[in-house]
Amino acid sequence: MRAMQVTQYDQPLRLNDIPVPDPGPGEVQVKVHSCGLNFGDLLLIKGTYQEKPSLPFTLGMELCGTVTALGEGVTSLSVGQRIAAYTGVHGLADYAVMAADICVAIPDAMTDIDAAAFLIAYGTSHVALDYKAHLRPGERLLVLGASGGVGLTAVELGKLMGAEVIAVARGADKLEVAQAAGADHLINSDSDDIRTQVKALGGADVVYDPIGGDQFMAALRACNPEARILPLGFASGTVPQIPANILLVKNLTVIGYYWGGYTRVNPAVLTDSFKQLIAWYVDGKIKPHVSNVLPLEQANEALELLRTRKATGKVVVTIDG
Ligand SMILES: NC(=O)c1ccc[n+]([C@@H]2O[C@H](COP(=O)([O-])OP(=O)(O)OC[C@H]3O[C@@H](n4cnc5c(N)ncnc54)[C@H](OP(=O)(O)O)[C@@H]3O)[C@@H](O)[C@H]2O)c1
Repeated sequence: MRAMQVTQYDQPLRLNDIPVPDPGPGEVQVKVHSCGLNFGDLLLIKGTYQEKPSLPFTLGMELCGTVTALGEGVTSLSVGQRIAAYTGVHGLADYAVMAADICVAIPDAMTDIDAAAFLIAYGTSHVALDYKAHLRPGERLLVLGASGGVGLTAVELGKLMGAEVIAVARGADKLEVAQAAGADHLINSDSDDIRTQVKALGGADVVYDPIGGDQFMAALRACNPEARILPLGFASGTVPQIPANILLVKNLTVIGYYWGGYTRVNPAVLTDSFKQLIAWYVDGKIKPHVSNVLPLEQANEALELLRTRKATGKVVVTIDG
């Protein structure tokens, strides 16, 4: 089968021919239809992600596919069932094998493209805003990187949860995407002073930050007393160093957060979240924004769209047409 693999760190993926994997006990084999790309894939290619699979490995953190074979003891799924899964790796290939209990049954109404763009982006933002930050209706939510994969869903979900949403993104086109997702206020990170603008809007009660660096510091200084801050990613390349005196003076709470960690720490948090998110999708309350869809052979070009910050929302790679 075809697989787009990392064979050497910091090099383009190679299209390799590898054996179709068989499912072991408790696992299923899935014919992959589509794979959603993530910033984390760029880090996996560089060997700097928090998880470090041994080389060579097939890239692709999340996928949509159809179950083609069941391993021993699997009763929760059936052959022919369409699923989505957060697998961490393996998504950019014709077939993948995974534990049956990480598969999420998806409704007929959900397209293969939407399903591949769904779990990480919406899952990350929903658990962050609901389970971790306890976002309440009427609170002011500041979203950095608001046109990116996770950022855009934070705008959409924040609005759905009743917050007033301030979106920060780079340039008018990206801000337009954030506005279409429901943002009430728009700040251009290229030209506006984030701290001043957020303070002028009344300050932030919750900060959703996938960027880090200077934008984190500006957001921290624009927080209202008792604000909750989620430094959940460092797309800028700079991990914030947080001055405890500012936390003390304003009674701020910084929340450590790694969504993927919940697969080990407390999987029920993810299961409950997916249930809610799929219900919202079926009700037409949320809809993934996918800026680019490319075939497997062009996975390197698809990754380049993320690397060069040309994508908005999600980039999806289709495996079987
Ligand atoms: N903690 C968790 O559980 C969790 C889960 C998922 C993702 N994440 C993290 O969240 C971050 C975003 O992931 P994603 O998949 O949403 O990525 P993405 O779709 O590529 O979006 C990243 C956004 O970051 C901004 N950005 C990119 N490079 C930048 C730079 N050098 N300086 C400043 N801004 C930059 C871009 O917005 P502008 O061009 O508008 O600036 C882009 O829209 C990553 O760090 C990822 O690892 C964390």
